[in-house]
Amino acid sequence: MEPQHVLELVSENPERSREIGACLGPVVRPGDLILLHGDLGAGKTTFTQGIARGMGVEDYVQSPTFTLVNEHDGTRPDGTPLRLYHLDLYRLAGEADLESFGFEQYLAPADGVAVVEWPERAATVLPEAYLLVRLAPVGADARRITIEAVPPEGVYVERLDALRERLDREE
Ligand SMILES: Nc1ncnc2c1ncn2[C@@H]1O[C@H](COP(=O)(O)OP(=O)(O)OP(=O)(O)O)[C@@H](O)[C@H]1O
Ligand SMILES: [Mg+2]
Repeated sequence: MEPQHVLELVSENPERSREIGACLGPVVRPGDLILLHGDLGAGKTTFTQGIARGMGVEDYVQSPTFTLVNEHDGTRPDGTPLRLYHLDLYRLAGEADLESFGFEQYLAPADGVAVVEWPERAATVLPEAYLLVRLAPVGADARRITIEAVPPEGVYVERLDALRERLDREE
């Protein structure tokens, strides 16, 4: 049996990855941090589109290109506002860059959640707790999506439990 703090799923196509993300959208809370690991084209942005859908974001979600962060207005299931901070650190020149754009203010936003693609680029300044989503190709169009609460106790384990419940209900 897989441990309680890890959830492993297989997504058969991009829309399924969005659906899984959409189940996470209503579960996240202000101040949450979600890190997305995976190679180019693994499906990080696709998964983020799902999170956005689950947060009621109406904008089209794409990776930020000229900036490192895009902001989208979403809502919590109770109707209160919740912003999605979508960061993509791929183009980060070096860790010195992180300071100039105020990276740390996005790590635990009071009014929203942060979703970070290529968080490896900021390894030295990441906090100790986050939800880690790993995406890896399985054959042509499937992806293994592994979602892990780091550390294996506390709020992110609660988020993972809530996500499991939603995915079960969906079936
Ligand atoms: N099961 C799947 N889940 C997600 N994406 C899939 C899946 N199968 C195929 N794809 C395709 O893989 C690509 C994923 O692209 P996406 O932009 O989400 O990747 P990314 O990890 O954000 O890449 P980058 O590092 O360049 O930002 C899309 O073209 C998508 O249609
Ligand atoms: Mg991307």
